Amino acid sequence: MMRRAKISIIGAGNVGATTAHWCAAAELGDIVLLDIPATENMPAGKALDLFEASPIMGFDSRLKGTTDWADTALSDVVVVTAGIARKPGMSRDDLLATNATIVGNVAEQIRSTSPSAVVIVVSNPLDAMVQRTLQVTGFPSARVIGQAGILDTARYRSFLAMELNVSVEDVSAMLLGGHGDTMVPIPSCTGVGGIPVTQLIKPERLEEIVTRTRNGGAEIVGLLKTGSAYYAPAAATTQMVEAVVRDKKRLVPCAAYCDREYGVGGFFVGVPVVLGAGGVERIIELSLLPAERAAFDKSVIAVKELVSAMNALTGWKSQ
Ligand code: NAI
Ligand code: 2OP
Repeated sequence: MMRRAKISIIGAGNVGATTAHWCAAAELGDIVLLDIPATENMPAGKALDLFEASPIMGFDSRLKGTTDWADTALSDVVVVTAGIARKPGMSRDDLLATNATIVGNVAEQIRSTSPSAVVIVVSNPLDAMVQRTLQVTGFPSARVIGQAGILDTARYRSFLAMELNVSVEDVSAMLLGGHGDTMVPIPSCTGVGGIPVTQLIKPERLEEIVTRTRNGGAEIVGLLKTGSAYYAPAAATTQMVEAVVRDKKRLVPCAAYCDREYGVGGFFVGVPVVLGAGGVERIIELSLLPAERAAFDKSVIAVKELVSAMNALTGWKSQ
Protein backbone atom coordinates (compact mmCIF):
# COMPACT_ATOMS: atom_id res chain seq x y z
CA MET A 1 0.00 0.00 0.00
CA MET A 2 1.30 3.46 -0.85
CA ARG A 3 1.97 5.65 2.19
CA ARG A 4 0.10 8.96 2.19
CA ALA A 5 2.36 11.98 2.10
CA LYS A 6 2.48 14.16 5.21
CA ILE A 7 2.27 17.87 4.49
CA SER A 8 2.71 20.40 7.28
CA ILE A 9 1.73 24.01 6.71
CA ILE A 10 3.22 26.50 9.15
CA GLY A 11 1.06 29.58 9.64
CA ALA A 12 -2.70 29.01 9.49
CA GLY A 13 -3.47 32.49 8.16
CA ASN A 14 -4.79 33.37 4.72
CA VAL A 15 -2.10 31.73 2.59
CA GLY A 16 -1.60 28.75 4.92
CA ALA A 17 -5.29 27.89 5.29
CA THR A 18 -5.96 28.35 1.58
CA THR A 19 -2.98 26.13 0.73
CA ALA A 20 -4.43 23.50 3.07
CA HIS A 21 -7.71 23.85 1.20
CA TRP A 22 -6.21 23.33 -2.29
CA CYS A 23 -3.88 20.52 -1.10
CA ALA A 24 -6.75 18.68 0.61
CA ALA A 25 -9.06 19.10 -2.37
CA ALA A 26 -6.36 17.60 -4.62
CA GLU A 27 -5.80 14.77 -2.11
CA LEU A 28 -2.07 15.45 -2.02
CA GLY A 29 -1.72 13.87 1.43
CA ASP A 30 -2.56 14.28 5.08
CA ILE A 31 -2.25 17.83 6.28
CA VAL A 32 -1.14 19.43 9.53
CA LEU A 33 -1.89 23.14 9.92
CA LEU A 34 0.20 24.80 12.64
CA ASP A 35 0.10 28.27 14.16
CA ILE A 36 1.47 29.90 17.33
CA PRO A 37 0.01 29.09 20.78
CA ALA A 38 -1.43 32.64 20.97
CA THR A 39 -3.91 31.63 18.26
CA GLU A 40 -5.22 28.93 20.64
CA ASN A 41 -7.66 26.68 18.80
CA MET A 42 -7.84 28.65 15.54
CA PRO A 43 -5.80 26.10 13.50
CA ALA A 44 -7.88 23.24 14.95
CA GLY A 45 -11.05 25.12 14.00
CA LYS A 46 -9.92 25.71 10.41
CA ALA A 47 -8.73 22.10 9.96
CA LEU A 48 -11.98 20.67 11.33
CA ASP A 49 -14.11 23.00 9.24
CA LEU A 50 -12.17 22.00 6.10
CA PHE A 51 -12.43 18.28 6.98
CA GLU A 52 -16.17 18.70 7.37
CA ALA A 53 -16.29 19.94 3.76
CA SER A 54 -14.77 16.68 2.54
CA PRO A 55 -17.91 14.50 2.61
CA ILE A 56 -19.62 17.10 0.41
CA MET A 57 -16.75 17.81 -1.95
CA GLY A 58 -15.64 14.19 -1.98
CA PHE A 59 -11.97 14.50 -1.06
CA ASP A 60 -10.15 12.18 1.27
CA SER A 61 -7.42 13.91 3.28
CA ARG A 62 -6.88 13.79 7.01
CA LEU A 63 -6.51 17.26 8.49
CA LYS A 64 -5.18 18.34 11.86
CA GLY A 65 -4.88 21.85 13.24
CA THR A 66 -2.41 22.37 16.05
CA THR A 67 -0.03 24.65 17.93
CA ASP A 68 2.27 21.75 18.84
CA TRP A 69 5.29 21.11 16.62
CA ALA A 70 5.32 17.43 17.66
CA ASP A 71 2.27 16.95 15.41
CA THR A 72 4.34 17.90 12.36
CA ALA A 73 7.01 15.23 13.02
CA LEU A 74 8.51 13.52 9.99
CA SER A 75 6.64 15.51 7.38
CA ASP A 76 7.54 14.92 3.73
CA VAL A 77 6.88 18.55 2.86
CA VAL A 78 6.76 21.62 5.12
CA VAL A 79 5.28 24.85 3.76
CA VAL A 80 6.30 28.04 5.59
CA THR A 81 3.70 30.82 5.47
CA ALA A 82 4.36 32.10 9.00
CA GLY A 83 4.88 35.80 9.47
CA ILE A 84 3.20 39.10 8.89
CA ALA A 85 1.77 40.16 5.54
CA ARG A 86 1.79 43.51 3.76
CA LYS A 87 -0.69 46.27 4.46
CA PRO A 88 -1.20 49.21 2.08
CA GLY A 89 1.94 51.35 1.82
CA MET A 90 4.25 48.55 2.96
CA SER A 91 6.74 46.90 0.64
CA ARG A 92 7.66 43.25 0.98
CA ASP A 93 11.01 44.41 2.39
CA ASP A 94 9.26 46.23 5.26
CA LEU A 95 8.52 42.78 6.61
CA LEU A 96 12.21 41.86 6.85
CA ALA A 97 13.00 42.23 10.56
CA THR A 98 9.82 40.67 11.93
CA ASN A 99 9.70 37.79 9.50
CA ALA A 100 13.44 36.99 9.72
CA THR A 101 12.91 36.25 13.43
CA ILE A 102 9.71 34.29 12.87
CA VAL A 103 11.09 32.26 9.95
CA GLY A 104 14.35 31.63 11.86
CA ASN A 105 12.37 30.15 14.77
CA VAL A 106 10.22 28.10 12.41
CA ALA A 107 13.30 26.76 10.56
CA GLU A 108 14.85 25.67 13.87
CA GLN A 109 11.73 23.62 14.63
CA ILE A 110 11.68 22.08 11.15
CA ARG A 111 15.32 21.04 11.49
CA SER A 112 14.54 18.92 14.54
CA THR A 113 11.01 17.69 13.76
CA SER A 114 11.20 16.96 10.00
CA PRO A 115 14.88 16.54 9.11
CA SER A 116 14.17 14.90 5.75
CA ALA A 117 11.46 17.28 4.54
CA VAL A 118 11.40 19.38 1.42
CA VAL A 119 10.72 22.91 2.67
CA ILE A 120 8.72 25.36 0.56
CA VAL A 121 9.03 28.93 1.82
CA VAL A 122 6.35 31.51 1.06
CA SER A 123 6.85 34.17 3.78
CA ASN A 124 8.10 37.56 2.57
CA PRO A 125 10.44 39.08 1.68
CA LEU A 126 10.67 35.76 -0.08
CA ASP A 127 14.19 35.78 -1.46
CA ALA A 128 15.60 36.54 2.00
CA MET A 129 13.27 34.24 3.98
CA VAL A 130 14.25 31.24 1.90
CA GLN A 131 17.94 32.03 2.53
CA ARG A 132 17.20 32.27 6.27
CA THR A 133 15.55 28.85 6.13
CA LEU A 134 18.60 27.33 4.45
CA GLN A 135 20.93 28.98 7.00
CA VAL A 136 19.04 27.71 10.03
CA THR A 137 17.99 24.23 8.85
CA GLY A 138 21.36 23.47 7.24
CA PHE A 139 19.43 21.21 4.84
CA PRO A 140 20.86 20.42 1.41
CA SER A 141 19.94 23.36 -0.80
CA ALA A 142 17.85 21.17 -3.15
CA ARG A 143 15.38 20.68 -0.28
CA VAL A 144 14.81 24.39 0.40
CA ILE A 145 12.78 26.22 -2.24
CA GLY A 146 10.97 29.56 -2.42
CA GLN A 147 7.60 30.19 -3.98
CA ALA A 148 7.47 33.29 -6.16
CA GLY A 149 7.88 32.51 -9.84
CA ILE A 150 4.79 30.36 -10.26
CA LEU A 151 2.67 33.15 -8.79
CA ASP A 152 4.37 35.88 -10.79
CA THR A 153 4.03 33.93 -14.06
CA ALA A 154 0.40 33.09 -13.22
CA ARG A 155 -0.33 36.81 -12.87
CA TYR A 156 1.50 37.51 -16.14
CA ARG A 157 -0.40 34.70 -17.89
CA SER A 158 -3.70 36.01 -16.52
CA PHE A 159 -3.02 39.52 -17.80
CA LEU A 160 -1.90 38.22 -21.22
CA ALA A 161 -5.08 36.11 -21.50
CA MET A 162 -7.19 39.16 -20.55
CA GLU A 163 -5.36 41.29 -23.13
CA LEU A 164 -5.82 38.82 -25.99
CA ASN A 165 -9.21 37.53 -24.88
CA VAL A 166 -8.00 33.93 -25.02
CA SER A 167 -8.10 31.11 -22.53
CA VAL A 168 -5.52 31.23 -19.75
CA GLU A 169 -4.85 27.58 -20.64
CA ASP A 170 -3.14 28.65 -23.85
CA VAL A 171 -0.73 31.14 -22.31
CA SER A 172 2.65 29.93 -21.08
CA ALA A 173 5.44 32.12 -19.79
CA MET A 174 8.72 32.21 -17.93
CA LEU A 175 9.94 34.93 -15.56
CA LEU A 176 13.30 34.97 -13.80
CA GLY A 177 14.80 36.98 -10.93
CA GLY A 178 13.49 38.11 -7.56
CA HIS A 179 9.86 38.16 -6.44
CA GLY A 180 7.98 41.19 -7.65
CA ASP A 181 9.64 44.45 -8.37
CA THR A 182 12.79 43.09 -10.02
CA MET A 183 11.32 40.14 -11.91
CA VAL A 184 12.70 39.57 -15.40
CA PRO A 185 10.30 38.59 -18.20
CA ILE A 186 11.72 36.44 -21.00
CA PRO A 187 9.63 37.21 -24.13
CA SER A 188 11.31 34.39 -26.09
CA CYS A 189 9.85 31.96 -23.51
CA THR A 190 6.34 33.45 -23.58
CA GLY A 191 3.81 31.97 -25.96
CA VAL A 192 0.11 31.85 -26.69
CA GLY A 193 -1.02 28.59 -28.28
CA GLY A 194 2.57 28.08 -29.41
CA ILE A 195 2.80 31.55 -31.04
CA PRO A 196 5.54 33.83 -29.65
CA VAL A 197 3.88 36.66 -27.70
CA THR A 198 5.94 39.20 -29.63
CA GLN A 199 3.86 38.36 -32.74
CA LEU A 200 0.63 39.15 -30.91
CA ILE A 201 1.34 42.14 -28.65
CA LYS A 202 3.34 45.27 -29.47
CA PRO A 203 6.48 45.84 -27.35
CA GLU A 204 5.12 48.97 -25.59
CA ARG A 205 1.91 47.22 -24.60
CA LEU A 206 3.83 44.14 -23.48
CA GLU A 207 5.96 46.41 -21.28
CA GLU A 208 2.77 47.79 -19.65
CA ILE A 209 1.61 44.24 -18.92
CA VAL A 210 5.00 43.40 -17.42
CA THR A 211 4.73 46.49 -15.19
CA ARG A 212 1.29 45.43 -14.02
CA THR A 213 2.72 41.96 -13.26
CA ARG A 214 5.62 43.47 -11.27
CA ASN A 215 3.06 45.38 -9.21
CA GLY A 216 0.64 42.44 -9.06
CA GLY A 217 1.08 41.91 -5.33
CA ALA A 218 0.60 45.62 -4.54
CA GLU A 219 -2.49 45.74 -6.78
CA ILE A 220 -4.20 43.13 -4.60
CA VAL A 221 -3.01 44.79 -1.36
CA GLY A 222 -4.53 48.05 -2.63
CA LEU A 223 -7.85 46.34 -3.31
CA LEU A 224 -8.07 44.24 -0.13
CA LYS A 225 -6.71 46.94 2.23
CA THR A 226 -6.48 44.48 5.16
CA GLY A 227 -3.79 42.11 3.90
CA SER A 228 -2.24 40.62 0.78
CA ALA A 229 -3.14 38.11 -1.90
CA TYR A 230 -3.76 34.50 -0.96
CA TYR A 231 -5.80 32.53 -3.52
CA ALA A 232 -3.19 32.69 -6.30
CA PRO A 233 -0.22 32.43 -3.87
CA ALA A 234 -1.79 29.33 -2.30
CA ALA A 235 -2.51 27.81 -5.72
CA ALA A 236 1.12 28.37 -6.72
CA THR A 237 2.33 26.77 -3.49
CA THR A 238 0.02 23.80 -4.01
CA GLN A 239 1.50 23.21 -7.47
CA MET A 240 4.94 22.97 -5.82
CA VAL A 241 3.67 20.60 -3.11
CA GLU A 242 2.10 18.42 -5.79
CA ALA A 243 5.29 18.34 -7.85
CA VAL A 244 7.17 17.03 -4.79
CA VAL A 245 4.67 14.52 -3.36
CA ARG A 246 3.81 13.11 -6.80
CA ASP A 247 7.39 13.38 -8.09
CA LYS A 248 6.07 15.15 -11.17
CA LYS A 249 9.29 16.70 -12.48
CA ARG A 250 7.46 19.96 -13.22
CA LEU A 251 9.52 22.56 -15.06
CA VAL A 252 8.52 25.77 -13.28
CA PRO A 253 10.15 28.97 -12.06
CA CYS A 254 11.03 28.86 -8.34
CA ALA A 255 13.44 30.63 -6.03
CA ALA A 256 16.29 28.10 -6.00
CA TYR A 257 19.74 28.24 -4.46
CA CYS A 258 22.12 29.19 -7.26
CA ASP A 259 25.83 29.07 -6.71
CA ARG A 260 27.67 28.52 -9.98
CA GLU A 261 24.35 28.54 -11.86
CA TYR A 262 23.88 31.86 -13.63
CA GLY A 263 27.03 32.98 -11.73
CA VAL A 264 24.89 33.96 -8.71
CA GLY A 265 27.33 32.88 -5.99
CA GLY A 266 25.17 31.34 -3.26
CA PHE A 267 21.80 33.11 -3.20
CA PHE A 268 18.20 32.23 -3.97
CA VAL A 269 16.85 33.65 -7.16
CA GLY A 270 13.97 32.81 -9.45
CA VAL A 271 15.09 30.40 -12.17
CA PRO A 272 13.50 27.54 -14.11
CA VAL A 273 13.86 24.31 -12.14
CA VAL A 274 12.71 20.73 -12.38
CA LEU A 275 10.72 19.97 -9.22
CA GLY A 276 10.29 16.42 -8.04
CA ALA A 277 10.47 14.21 -4.97
CA GLY A 278 13.98 15.45 -4.19
CA GLY A 279 12.96 19.11 -4.35
CA VAL A 280 14.98 21.08 -6.91
CA GLU A 281 16.32 18.24 -9.02
CA ARG A 282 17.79 20.42 -11.75
CA ILE A 283 18.29 24.11 -12.48
CA ILE A 284 17.85 25.01 -16.14
CA GLU A 285 20.30 27.63 -17.39
CA LEU A 286 18.83 29.71 -20.20
CA SER A 287 20.98 31.75 -22.52
CA LEU A 288 19.88 35.32 -21.97
CA LEU A 289 19.93 38.30 -24.30
CA PRO A 290 22.14 41.17 -23.05
CA ALA A 291 19.15 43.21 -21.79
CA GLU A 292 17.69 40.15 -20.01
CA ARG A 293 21.09 39.38 -18.46
CA ALA A 294 21.40 42.98 -17.23
CA ALA A 295 17.92 42.86 -15.68
CA PHE A 296 18.71 39.48 -14.09
CA ASP A 297 21.97 40.82 -12.61
CA LYS A 298 20.09 43.83 -11.21
CA SER A 299 17.62 41.48 -9.61
CA VAL A 300 20.42 39.43 -8.06
CA ILE A 301 22.00 42.61 -6.63
CA ALA A 302 18.65 43.47 -4.99
CA VAL A 303 18.47 39.97 -3.47
CA LYS A 304 22.05 40.24 -2.16
CA GLU A 305 21.31 43.63 -0.56
CA LEU A 306 18.23 42.21 1.12
CA VAL A 307 20.15 39.21 2.44
CA SER A 308 22.98 41.39 3.80
CA ALA A 309 20.42 43.60 5.56
CA MET A 310 18.90 40.46 7.04
CA ASN A 311 22.27 39.02 8.08
CA ALA A 312 23.07 42.30 9.84
CA LEU A 313 19.79 42.01 11.78
CA THR A 314 20.22 38.33 12.71
CA GLY A 315 23.99 38.45 13.24
CA TRP A 316 24.46 35.63 10.69
CA LYS A 317 28.00 35.25 9.40
CA SER A 318 28.54 33.12 6.32
CA GLN A 319 30.60 30.03 7.21
P1 NAI B 1 -1.61 36.05 7.66
O1 NAI B 1 -1.35 37.16 8.61
O2 NAI B 1 -3.00 35.78 7.21
O3 NAI B 1 -1.06 34.69 8.29
C1 NAI B 1 0.20 34.54 8.85
C2 NAI B 1 0.07 33.56 10.00
O4 NAI B 1 1.39 33.24 10.48
C3 NAI B 1 -0.75 34.09 11.19
O5 NAI B 1 -1.84 33.24 11.48
C4 NAI B 1 0.28 34.10 12.32
O6 NAI B 1 -0.28 33.82 13.61
C5 NAI B 1 1.23 33.01 11.86
N1 NAI B 1 2.52 33.01 12.56
C6 NAI B 1 3.23 34.09 12.99
N2 NAI B 1 4.35 33.65 13.62
C7 NAI B 1 4.35 32.30 13.57
C8 NAI B 1 5.24 31.28 14.04
N3 NAI B 1 6.36 31.58 14.68
N4 NAI B 1 4.89 30.00 13.82
C9 NAI B 1 3.75 29.67 13.18
N5 NAI B 1 2.88 30.59 12.69
C10 NAI B 1 3.18 31.88 12.89
O7 NAI B 1 -0.66 36.29 6.39
P2 NAI B 1 -0.79 35.64 4.94
O8 NAI B 1 -1.59 36.51 4.08
O9 NAI B 1 -1.14 34.21 5.10
O10 NAI B 1 0.75 35.76 4.44
C11 NAI B 1 1.76 34.98 5.05
C12 NAI B 1 3.13 35.37 4.52
O11 NAI B 1 3.25 34.99 3.16
C13 NAI B 1 3.41 36.87 4.57
O12 NAI B 1 4.76 37.09 4.94
C14 NAI B 1 3.19 37.31 3.13
O13 NAI B 1 3.89 38.47 2.79
C15 NAI B 1 3.72 36.11 2.39
N6 NAI B 1 3.25 35.97 1.01
C16 NAI B 1 4.16 35.57 0.08
C17 NAI B 1 3.80 35.35 -1.22
C18 NAI B 1 4.80 34.84 -2.20
O14 NAI B 1 4.50 34.82 -3.39
N7 NAI B 1 5.97 34.42 -1.81
C19 NAI B 1 2.43 35.60 -1.67
C20 NAI B 1 1.52 35.94 -0.60
C21 NAI B 1 1.93 36.13 0.69
C1 2OP C 1 2.20 38.89 -3.46
O1 2OP C 1 2.95 38.93 -4.45
C2 2OP C 1 2.40 39.80 -1.18
O2 2OP C 1 4.18 38.63 -2.18
C3 2OP C 1 2.82 38.75 -2.11
O3 2OP C 1 0.98 38.95 -3.53
